[in-house]
Amino acid sequence: MFEHVETYPGDPILSLMDDYQRDPRADKVNLSIGFYYDGAGQVPVLSSVRQARALLEARAETANLYLPMDGHGGFREAVQRYLFADSDNPRIVTLQSVGGSGALRVGADFLKRWYPDSQVWVSDPTWDNHLAIFQGAGFGVNRYPYLDASGQQVDFQRLLQVFATLPANSIVLLHACCHNPTGVDLAPGQWDALYAVCRERSLIPFLDAAYLGLGEGLDEDAYAIRALARAGITGLVSNSFSKVFSLYGERVGSLSVVCDSVEIAGRVAGQLKGTVRTNYSNPPRHGAELVATIFSDVGLNALWREELDAMRERMLAMRRALYERVKPLDLDYLLRQKGMFSYTGLSAAAVDRIRERHGVYLIRSGRMCVAGLNESNLDQVARALSDH
Ligand code: LMR
Repeated sequence: MFEHVETYPGDPILSLMDDYQRDPRADKVNLSIGFYYDGAGQVPVLSSVRQARALLEARAETANLYLPMDGHGGFREAVQRYLFADSDNPRIVTLQSVGGSGALRVGADFLKRWYPDSQVWVSDPTWDNHLAIFQGAGFGVNRYPYLDASGQQVDFQRLLQVFATLPANSIVLLHACCHNPTGVDLAPGQWDALYAVCRERSLIPFLDAAYLGLGEGLDEDAYAIRALARAGITGLVSNSFSKVFSLYGERVGSLSVVCDSVEIAGRVAGQLKGTVRTNYSNPPRHGAELVATIFSDVGLNALWREELDAMRERMLAMRRALYERVKPLDLDYLLRQKGMFSYTGLSAAAVDRIRERHGVYLIRSGRMCVAGLNESNLDQVARALSDH
Protein backbone atom coordinates (compact mmCIF):
# COMPACT_ATOMS: atom_id res chain seq x y z
CA MET A 1 0.00 0.00 0.00
CA PHE A 2 1.03 3.62 -0.61
CA GLU A 3 3.61 2.40 -3.14
CA HIS A 4 2.34 5.02 -5.56
CA VAL A 5 2.69 7.95 -3.14
CA GLU A 6 5.03 10.50 -4.65
CA THR A 7 7.75 12.40 -2.79
CA TYR A 8 6.60 15.79 -1.50
CA PRO A 9 8.85 18.34 -3.21
CA GLY A 10 8.81 20.53 -0.08
CA ASP A 11 7.85 24.17 0.34
CA PRO A 12 10.41 26.66 -0.98
CA ILE A 13 10.28 28.81 2.17
CA LEU A 14 9.91 26.21 4.93
CA SER A 15 12.48 23.83 3.36
CA LEU A 16 15.04 26.63 3.30
CA MET A 17 14.35 27.27 6.99
CA ASP A 18 15.20 23.60 7.66
CA ASP A 19 18.46 24.01 5.69
CA TYR A 20 19.27 27.13 7.70
CA GLN A 21 18.74 25.32 10.97
CA ARG A 22 21.03 22.48 9.86
CA ASP A 23 23.79 24.88 8.73
CA PRO A 24 26.64 24.57 11.31
CA ARG A 25 28.16 28.00 10.56
CA ALA A 26 28.03 30.26 13.64
CA ASP A 27 27.76 33.44 11.57
CA LYS A 28 24.86 32.31 9.31
CA VAL A 29 22.22 34.98 8.68
CA ASN A 30 18.55 34.19 8.12
CA LEU A 31 16.94 36.62 5.65
CA SER A 32 14.59 33.98 4.27
CA ILE A 33 11.33 33.23 6.11
CA GLY A 34 9.11 36.13 7.18
CA PHE A 35 10.02 36.29 10.85
CA TYR A 36 10.49 39.66 12.53
CA TYR A 37 13.78 39.55 14.43
CA ASP A 38 14.71 42.33 16.87
CA GLY A 39 18.04 44.20 16.90
CA ALA A 40 19.60 41.38 18.93
CA GLY A 41 18.60 38.80 16.30
CA GLN A 42 15.78 37.31 18.43
CA VAL A 43 12.14 36.75 17.50
CA PRO A 44 10.69 38.93 20.28
CA VAL A 45 7.95 38.26 22.81
CA LEU A 46 6.09 41.58 22.74
CA SER A 47 5.58 43.30 26.12
CA SER A 48 1.89 43.76 25.28
CA VAL A 49 1.60 40.00 24.71
CA ARG A 50 3.53 39.21 27.90
CA GLN A 51 1.19 41.45 29.91
CA ALA A 52 -1.93 40.00 28.25
CA ARG A 53 -0.67 36.50 29.08
CA ALA A 54 -0.22 37.51 32.73
CA LEU A 55 -3.78 38.92 32.82
CA LEU A 56 -5.17 35.69 31.37
CA GLU A 57 -3.20 33.57 33.81
CA ALA A 58 -4.46 35.61 36.77
CA ARG A 59 -8.10 34.83 35.91
CA ALA A 60 -9.97 32.23 37.89
CA GLU A 61 -9.34 28.91 36.18
CA THR A 62 -12.04 28.03 33.68
CA ALA A 63 -12.70 24.81 31.81
CA ASN A 64 -10.94 24.71 28.44
CA LEU A 65 -14.06 24.37 26.32
CA TYR A 66 -14.26 24.38 22.54
CA LEU A 67 -14.63 27.79 20.96
CA PRO A 68 -17.58 28.23 18.57
CA MET A 69 -16.87 27.21 14.95
CA ASP A 70 -16.34 30.86 13.99
CA GLY A 71 -14.10 31.53 16.99
CA HIS A 72 -13.89 33.83 20.00
CA GLY A 73 -16.68 36.45 19.94
CA GLY A 74 -14.66 39.30 21.48
CA PHE A 75 -11.79 38.56 19.10
CA ARG A 76 -14.04 38.60 16.04
CA GLU A 77 -15.59 41.94 16.99
CA ALA A 78 -12.24 43.55 17.81
CA VAL A 79 -10.63 42.26 14.62
CA GLN A 80 -13.41 43.62 12.46
CA ARG A 81 -12.94 47.03 14.09
CA TYR A 82 -9.16 46.78 13.56
CA LEU A 83 -9.43 45.81 9.90
CA PHE A 84 -12.35 47.95 8.76
CA ALA A 85 -12.33 50.68 11.45
CA ASP A 86 -15.97 49.61 11.90
CA SER A 87 -17.16 46.66 14.02
CA ASP A 88 -20.86 47.30 13.45
CA ASN A 89 -21.13 46.84 9.70
CA PRO A 90 -23.62 43.95 9.49
CA ARG A 91 -22.72 43.34 5.83
CA ILE A 92 -19.29 42.08 6.97
CA VAL A 93 -18.77 38.62 8.43
CA THR A 94 -15.53 37.98 10.37
CA LEU A 95 -14.43 34.64 11.76
CA GLN A 96 -11.32 33.55 13.62
CA SER A 97 -8.98 31.38 11.56
CA VAL A 98 -5.95 29.16 12.01
CA GLY A 99 -3.42 31.82 10.96
CA GLY A 100 -3.53 33.66 7.64
CA SER A 101 -3.06 30.43 5.67
CA GLY A 102 -6.09 28.91 7.40
CA ALA A 103 -8.13 31.97 6.43
CA LEU A 104 -7.03 31.61 2.81
CA ARG A 105 -7.94 27.95 2.79
CA VAL A 106 -11.37 28.38 4.43
CA GLY A 107 -12.06 31.22 1.98
CA ALA A 108 -10.88 29.07 -0.93
CA ASP A 109 -13.02 26.08 0.13
CA PHE A 110 -16.05 28.34 0.55
CA LEU A 111 -15.53 29.94 -2.88
CA LYS A 112 -15.01 26.57 -4.57
CA ARG A 113 -18.32 25.34 -3.20
CA TRP A 114 -20.32 28.37 -4.38
CA TYR A 115 -18.30 29.34 -7.49
CA PRO A 116 -17.12 25.93 -8.71
CA ASP A 117 -16.43 27.16 -12.26
CA SER A 118 -14.39 30.23 -11.30
CA GLN A 119 -10.65 30.47 -11.67
CA VAL A 120 -8.18 32.27 -9.42
CA TRP A 121 -5.70 34.95 -10.52
CA VAL A 122 -2.62 35.74 -8.44
CA SER A 123 0.09 38.34 -9.01
CA ASP A 124 3.26 37.30 -10.82
CA PRO A 125 5.19 36.87 -8.55
CA THR A 126 3.35 36.03 -5.35
CA TRP A 127 3.82 34.05 -2.13
CA ASP A 128 4.30 30.44 -3.33
CA ASN A 129 1.73 29.07 -0.92
CA HIS A 130 -1.04 31.14 -2.56
CA LEU A 131 -0.80 28.88 -5.61
CA ALA A 132 -0.67 25.72 -3.51
CA ILE A 133 -3.63 26.69 -1.30
CA PHE A 134 -5.99 27.58 -4.16
CA GLN A 135 -4.88 24.62 -6.27
CA GLY A 136 -5.34 22.44 -3.20
CA ALA A 137 -8.94 23.69 -2.96
CA GLY A 138 -9.45 22.55 -6.57
CA PHE A 139 -9.10 25.86 -8.43
CA GLY A 140 -7.23 26.52 -11.65
CA VAL A 141 -4.73 29.26 -10.73
CA ASN A 142 -3.44 31.81 -13.26
CA ARG A 143 -1.08 34.75 -12.91
CA TYR A 144 -1.64 38.42 -13.68
CA PRO A 145 1.29 40.76 -14.46
CA TYR A 146 2.40 42.83 -11.51
CA LEU A 147 5.73 44.63 -11.89
CA ASP A 148 6.90 46.69 -14.86
CA ALA A 149 10.17 46.04 -16.69
CA SER A 150 12.19 47.95 -14.07
CA GLY A 151 10.93 45.43 -11.52
CA GLN A 152 10.49 48.29 -9.05
CA GLN A 153 6.93 49.48 -9.63
CA VAL A 154 3.51 48.07 -10.40
CA ASP A 155 2.63 47.99 -14.09
CA PHE A 156 -0.82 49.19 -13.21
CA GLN A 157 -2.14 49.77 -16.73
CA ARG A 158 -1.24 46.22 -17.77
CA LEU A 159 -2.73 44.81 -14.58
CA LEU A 160 -6.01 46.67 -15.19
CA GLN A 161 -6.07 45.60 -18.84
CA VAL A 162 -5.86 41.96 -17.76
CA PHE A 163 -8.53 42.40 -15.08
CA ALA A 164 -10.80 43.97 -17.70
CA THR A 165 -10.68 40.75 -19.76
CA LEU A 166 -11.41 38.28 -16.94
CA PRO A 167 -14.70 36.36 -16.92
CA ALA A 168 -17.32 37.35 -14.35
CA ASN A 169 -16.79 35.79 -10.89
CA SER A 170 -13.04 35.36 -11.40
CA ILE A 171 -11.28 35.50 -8.03
CA VAL A 172 -8.39 37.99 -7.94
CA LEU A 173 -5.93 37.57 -5.10
CA LEU A 174 -4.30 40.83 -3.98
CA HIS A 175 -1.88 41.74 -1.21
CA ALA A 176 -3.44 44.40 1.03
CA CYS A 177 -0.01 45.91 1.76
CA CYS A 178 3.70 44.99 1.89
CA HIS A 179 3.40 42.77 -1.20
CA ASN A 180 5.13 39.43 -0.65
CA PRO A 181 7.70 38.98 -2.21
CA THR A 182 8.23 42.35 -3.95
CA GLY A 183 7.51 44.99 -1.29
CA VAL A 184 5.85 47.02 -4.08
CA ASP A 185 2.28 48.14 -3.33
CA LEU A 186 -0.63 49.84 -5.11
CA ALA A 187 -1.28 53.50 -4.26
CA PRO A 188 -4.69 54.47 -2.77
CA GLY A 189 -5.97 55.87 -6.10
CA GLN A 190 -4.97 52.62 -7.82
CA TRP A 191 -6.98 50.58 -5.33
CA ASP A 192 -10.03 52.72 -6.07
CA ALA A 193 -9.57 52.27 -9.83
CA LEU A 194 -9.08 48.52 -9.39
CA TYR A 195 -12.26 48.15 -7.34
CA ALA A 196 -14.17 50.05 -10.07
CA VAL A 197 -13.02 47.38 -12.57
CA CYS A 198 -13.95 44.62 -10.10
CA ARG A 199 -17.46 46.10 -9.88
CA GLU A 200 -17.78 46.50 -13.65
CA ARG A 201 -16.54 42.96 -14.40
CA SER A 202 -18.11 41.25 -11.34
CA LEU A 203 -14.72 40.05 -10.09
CA ILE A 204 -14.24 38.79 -6.53
CA PRO A 205 -11.22 40.43 -4.84
CA PHE A 206 -9.56 38.36 -2.11
CA LEU A 207 -7.13 40.49 -0.09
CA ASP A 208 -4.36 38.85 1.89
CA ALA A 209 -3.19 40.97 4.85
CA ALA A 210 -0.30 39.62 6.91
CA TYR A 211 1.77 42.77 7.44
CA LEU A 212 -0.61 45.58 8.43
CA GLY A 213 1.35 48.31 10.19
CA LEU A 214 4.73 47.13 8.94
CA GLY A 215 4.63 49.19 5.71
CA GLU A 216 3.68 52.80 6.37
CA GLY A 217 1.47 52.56 9.47
CA LEU A 218 -1.67 50.74 10.49
CA ASP A 219 -4.23 53.10 8.96
CA GLU A 220 -2.23 53.66 5.75
CA ASP A 221 -1.68 49.91 5.32
CA ALA A 222 -5.37 49.16 5.89
CA TYR A 223 -6.44 51.46 3.02
CA ALA A 224 -7.15 48.62 0.58
CA ILE A 225 -9.33 46.79 3.13
CA ARG A 226 -11.37 49.82 4.14
CA ALA A 227 -11.73 50.97 0.52
CA LEU A 228 -13.07 47.51 -0.38
CA ALA A 229 -15.86 47.88 2.20
CA ARG A 230 -16.58 51.43 0.98
CA ALA A 231 -16.61 50.39 -2.69
CA GLY A 232 -19.86 48.50 -2.20
CA ILE A 233 -18.54 45.29 -3.77
CA THR A 234 -18.24 41.78 -2.43
CA GLY A 235 -14.77 40.60 -1.38
CA LEU A 236 -12.79 38.56 1.11
CA VAL A 237 -9.96 39.50 3.48
CA SER A 238 -7.58 37.00 5.09
CA ASN A 239 -5.56 38.40 7.96
CA SER A 240 -2.66 37.04 10.00
CA PHE A 241 -1.49 38.07 13.46
CA SER A 242 1.71 35.99 13.23
CA LYS A 243 4.06 38.86 12.41
CA VAL A 244 2.36 41.91 13.92
CA PHE A 245 1.94 40.28 17.36
CA SER A 246 4.96 37.97 17.00
CA LEU A 247 2.57 35.06 17.68
CA TYR A 248 3.65 32.70 14.89
CA GLY A 249 3.06 29.44 16.74
CA GLU A 250 -0.38 30.41 18.06
CA ARG A 251 -1.81 30.30 14.52
CA VAL A 252 -4.12 33.24 15.01
CA GLY A 253 -5.77 35.04 12.12
CA SER A 254 -9.13 35.93 10.65
CA LEU A 255 -11.24 35.74 7.53
CA SER A 256 -13.73 38.48 6.66
CA VAL A 257 -16.27 38.50 3.86
CA VAL A 258 -17.82 41.78 2.76
CA CYS A 259 -21.30 40.97 1.43
CA ASP A 260 -23.92 42.89 -0.53
CA SER A 261 -26.59 42.73 2.16
CA VAL A 262 -27.14 41.80 5.79
CA GLU A 263 -29.30 38.90 4.72
CA ILE A 264 -26.58 37.42 2.47
CA ALA A 265 -24.00 38.00 5.21
CA GLY A 266 -26.07 35.79 7.53
CA ARG A 267 -26.06 32.90 5.05
CA VAL A 268 -22.36 33.34 4.25
CA ALA A 269 -21.57 33.29 8.00
CA GLY A 270 -23.44 29.99 8.33
CA GLN A 271 -21.69 28.38 5.36
CA LEU A 272 -18.28 29.52 6.62
CA LYS A 273 -19.01 27.79 9.93
CA GLY A 274 -19.84 24.64 7.96
CA THR A 275 -16.52 24.91 6.11
CA VAL A 276 -14.66 25.20 9.42
CA ARG A 277 -16.59 22.32 11.01
CA THR A 278 -15.57 19.99 8.20
CA ASN A 279 -11.92 21.10 8.31
CA TYR A 280 -10.86 21.44 11.95
CA SER A 281 -14.19 21.94 13.77
CA ASN A 282 -13.24 25.08 15.69
CA PRO A 283 -10.11 27.20 16.15
CA PRO A 284 -7.66 27.21 19.07
CA ARG A 285 -8.36 29.47 22.01
CA HIS A 286 -5.19 30.92 23.48
CA GLY A 287 -3.85 33.16 20.69
CA ALA A 288 -7.28 34.69 20.10
CA GLU A 289 -7.65 35.39 23.82
CA LEU A 290 -4.29 37.15 23.86
CA VAL A 291 -5.17 39.34 20.87
CA ALA A 292 -8.68 40.07 22.17
CA THR A 293 -7.23 41.05 25.57
CA ILE A 294 -4.83 43.51 23.93
CA PHE A 295 -7.47 44.99 21.65
CA SER A 296 -9.94 45.46 24.51
CA ASP A 297 -7.54 47.15 26.94
CA VAL A 298 -6.74 50.79 26.11
CA GLY A 299 -3.29 50.65 27.75
CA LEU A 300 -2.26 47.36 26.19
CA ASN A 301 -3.56 48.44 22.82
CA ALA A 302 -1.47 51.64 22.97
CA LEU A 303 1.58 49.62 24.06
CA TRP A 304 1.12 47.18 21.17
CA ARG A 305 0.78 50.05 18.68
CA GLU A 306 4.10 51.44 19.97
CA GLU A 307 5.71 48.03 19.59
CA LEU A 308 4.34 47.68 16.06
CA ASP A 309 5.66 51.15 15.16
CA ALA A 310 9.06 50.22 16.59
CA MET A 311 9.21 47.05 14.44
CA ARG A 312 8.42 49.06 11.32
CA GLU A 313 10.93 51.78 12.19
CA ARG A 314 13.69 49.28 12.91
CA MET A 315 13.17 47.66 9.53
CA LEU A 316 13.27 51.08 7.84
CA ALA A 317 16.52 51.88 9.67
CA MET A 318 18.01 48.57 8.53
CA ARG A 319 16.96 49.25 4.93
CA ARG A 320 18.74 52.62 5.08
CA ALA A 321 21.82 51.17 6.80
CA LEU A 322 22.21 48.38 4.22
CA TYR A 323 21.69 50.87 1.39
CA GLU A 324 24.51 53.01 2.80
CA ARG A 325 26.80 49.97 3.25
CA VAL A 326 26.43 49.02 -0.44
CA LYS A 327 26.12 52.56 -1.82
CA PRO A 328 28.22 51.95 -4.97
CA LEU A 329 25.70 49.26 -6.01
CA ASP A 330 22.91 51.87 -5.78
CA LEU A 331 20.31 49.41 -4.43
CA ASP A 332 17.63 52.09 -4.13
CA TYR A 333 14.90 49.43 -4.11
CA LEU A 334 15.89 48.98 -0.46
CA LEU A 335 14.53 52.45 0.25
CA ARG A 336 11.45 52.24 -1.97
CA GLN A 337 10.00 48.81 -1.19
CA LYS A 338 7.69 48.45 1.81
CA GLY A 339 7.47 46.05 4.72
CA MET A 340 9.37 42.93 5.63
CA PHE A 341 10.62 42.02 2.19
CA SER A 342 12.86 43.42 -0.50
CA TYR A 343 12.97 41.95 -3.94
CA THR A 344 16.61 42.02 -4.92
CA GLY A 345 16.33 40.86 -8.53
CA LEU A 346 19.06 38.27 -7.77
CA SER A 347 18.81 35.03 -9.72
CA ALA A 348 18.35 31.70 -7.92
CA ALA A 349 21.96 30.85 -8.83
CA ALA A 350 23.22 34.10 -7.24
CA VAL A 351 21.13 33.42 -4.12
CA ASP A 352 22.70 29.94 -3.93
CA ARG A 353 26.21 31.38 -4.23
CA ILE A 354 25.52 33.96 -1.52
CA ARG A 355 24.28 31.22 0.80
CA GLU A 356 27.23 28.92 0.08
CA ARG A 357 29.95 31.59 0.26
CA HIS A 358 28.62 33.86 2.99
CA GLY A 359 26.03 31.87 4.98
CA VAL A 360 23.38 34.50 4.11
CA TYR A 361 19.99 32.93 3.39
CA LEU A 362 17.55 34.58 0.96
CA ILE A 363 14.57 32.93 -0.78
CA ARG A 364 15.57 31.63 -4.23
CA SER A 365 13.12 34.06 -5.87
CA GLY A 366 15.55 36.78 -4.75
CA ARG A 367 13.38 37.83 -1.79
CA MET A 368 15.24 39.17 1.23
CA CYS A 369 13.59 39.49 4.65
CA VAL A 370 14.95 42.83 5.88
CA ALA A 371 13.64 42.07 9.38
CA GLY A 372 16.59 39.68 9.78
CA LEU A 373 19.13 42.50 9.43
CA ASN A 374 20.84 43.92 12.50
CA GLU A 375 23.97 45.89 13.40
CA SER A 376 25.97 42.67 13.85
CA ASN A 377 25.25 41.18 10.42
CA LEU A 378 24.96 44.26 8.17
CA ASP A 379 28.62 44.15 7.07
CA GLN A 380 28.41 40.46 6.27
CA VAL A 381 25.20 40.93 4.26
CA ALA A 382 26.71 43.93 2.44
CA ARG A 383 29.75 41.81 1.53
CA ALA A 384 27.46 39.03 0.32
CA LEU A 385 25.45 41.38 -1.90
CA SER A 386 28.66 42.67 -3.44
CA ASP A 387 30.08 39.19 -4.08
CA HIS A 388 27.96 36.71 -5.99
C1 LMR B 1 6.88 34.00 4.48
O1 LMR B 1 6.41 34.41 3.40
O2 LMR B 1 8.08 33.81 4.67
C2 LMR B 1 5.95 33.77 5.63
O3 LMR B 1 4.66 34.11 5.30
C3 LMR B 1 6.08 32.43 6.24
C4 LMR B 1 5.47 31.33 5.44
O4 LMR B 1 4.62 30.62 5.97
O5 LMR B 1 5.84 31.15 4.26
